[in-house]
Amino acid sequence: MKVIGICGSPRKGNIEWMLTKLLEGVAKSGVETELILLRELSIKGCDGCLSCEMGGAERKGRCRIQDDMQIIYPKLLEADAWALGTPVYFELLSGMLKNFMDRTCPIWPKLEGKPVVGLAVAEEGIGKAIENLMTYASLCDMPWVGQVTALAKTPKQASKDKELEKRLEKLANKLVNVLKAR
Ligand SMILES: Cc1cc2nc3c(=O)[nH]c(=O)nc-3n(C[C@H](O)[C@H](O)[C@H](O)COP(=O)(O)O)c2cc1C
Repeated sequence: MKVIGICGSPRKGNIEWMLTKLLEGVAKSGVETELILLRELSIKGCDGCLSCEMGGAERKGRCRIQDDMQIIYPKLLEADAWALGTPVYFELLSGMLKNFMDRTCPIWPKLEGKPVVGLAVAEEGIGKAIENLMTYASLCDMPWVGQVTALAKTPKQASKDKELEKRLEKLANKLVNVLKAR
């Protein structure tokens, strides 16, 4: 079994730390994990061609844009569960994570049934960021397992919060239990 984390922050900051802790918790149960840092990849915006949905047999389910998304499509499909992490930008998910989501257009029908958890961090208020992640999960028919949110501004702030670490471990255990019950 494998859980994949997707980090939607352009900096090495709070959400990256939160995803790392969550995945460490998952790994304690012997489940394989991998963290994908979108900031380290070159991922262009969806160009809206829709050939992944409407193209012929050789185009359907594929993206014609040749960039790092091609490396991660197989990993996303292979993973048994996902952990989505976003910093809160203008009370919504980050553009980096939304860009990633748009580029899952070729594979979203194949994501059905993969459990997903969501993490979000903001300076003052989470706004609609978790709702954004839940909307994506719902459209992809990915069962929502739970979320952890935190308040932090500077990059290392969240990592000093012991109570947050416990909440992340709890969510990790919940996700593992969901996976093992399947
Ligand atoms: C462009 C931008 C917009 C932001 N908008 C909000 C916001 O609407 N509400 C809020 O509480 N914090 C907001 N923040 C603060 C970040 O959510 C906060 O610094 C968070 O810790 C960043 O997470 P990271 O360290 O994982 O990148 C914003 C930061 C940036 C750069």
